[in-house]
Amino acid sequence: MFDKIIDRKNSSCSKYDNLEQYFGKTDLDPFWVADMDFEIPPFLQEAIQKRAQHNVFGYGKQNKEIFEAIKNWMSSQHQWEINTSSISLCNGVVPAYAACIEAFSNIDDEIIVQTPVYFPLFQCIKANNRKILENPLKEDNGYYTMDLEHLKSIITPKTKMIALCSPHNPVGRVWDEKELEDLANICIENNITIISDEIHSDLIFKKFTPIASINEKIANITVTLNSPGKTFNIAGLNASYCITLNDELKNKLDEVIKQRVIGTINVFGLIAMQCAYENGTQWLESLRKYLESNIDFTIETLKNNTKIKVQKPEATYLLWLNFEKYNLSHQKIKEILLNDCKVALNDGLTFGKNGNSHFRFNVATSKNQLKKGLNKIISFNK
Ligand SMILES: Cc1ncc(COP(=O)(O)O)c(C=O)c1O
Repeated sequence: MFDKIIDRKNSSCSKYDNLEQYFGKTDLDPFWVADMDFEIPPFLQEAIQKRAQHNVFGYGKQNKEIFEAIKNWMSSQHQWEINTSSISLCNGVVPAYAACIEAFSNIDDEIIVQTPVYFPLFQCIKANNRKILENPLKEDNGYYTMDLEHLKSIITPKTKMIALCSPHNPVGRVWDEKELEDLANICIENNITIISDEIHSDLIFKKFTPIASINEKIANITVTLNSPGKTFNIAGLNASYCITLNDELKNKLDEVIKQRVIGTINVFGLIAMQCAYENGTQWLESLRKYLESNIDFTIETLKNNTKIKVQKPEATYLLWLNFEKYNLSHQKIKEILLNDCKVALNDGLTFGKNGNSHFRFNVATSKNQLKKGLNKIISFNK
């Protein structure tokens, strides 16, 4: 199923059709944007095609079944029991972030981000006239942890929110319960709202804990953002949701979602989200196996043929490649990847200063396409 090669060119997709715009050339194999080259599950294809054949695309309705499907997914996948009344729908995790920024902070307030991290966050914070308070992750031989001592030292009365990425893109960490609890306790002490972006939480290779499921005190200061977008490769349908157990926070957030008019998901997104969560368990298990075998194959190949350092991610299909052993400037590494290897990877510096010498490699593709890309990467600096 995942071995099938699909020509995605000219399908209005960012990963293949935006190469010229982002890299200035088109002769590249793309391993950048965080979506997958796989077809969506057959049951989902059927549901979407059935709806498409209806040929009337008026306004959608948020059925109660959608909320039930989300609640049940949280329970079955993450052993987190929530009420449907804690769910707010939104047309993307990034728009939900923007809404949280507006709801839980004021202009000039500080928002903590732990770099290297998913970069649209920076843009979102700046565009809303808030300040980025950077708490770089600690790195030990490619394994990243949160620097909580540093975090305590930089918090000021203006620090109102933390944008937690859990699991963490791009370093692939699934934070342990203890790490999350220690972080949350600092936030509780300092009146900091936690926005936990858990969009990668289904693509895991070890146990994942939603931070708000740890205890009531933590749930009280947390908004969780999630979506079936990554899991089922439907990011382009813009269906996401927020889970907020504290009513006061939820009311504030809902107010902003309403003001910004971002709570309306298109009919395909609504149908896909419900259908994926109702039927997706088995498909997801096969996907995880395929992704893990791609990850293992990539790590083995890079280890045996290059000086690139890489840790096995605990979640996601994104590998954080470290080229520092080549002793080349970041710019030079970038040029070789583009001009000699002819592959499009994400530039590590876009994730923060500590992304120097790093590039993010997306392995969610067929084995054949992956092998082609790896053959190009192992020609690096030869
Ligand atoms: C951590 C993280 N959050 C959010 C998103 C995007 O979410 P959405 O497409 O729902 O805005 C991505 C996509 O790569 C991501 O990696």
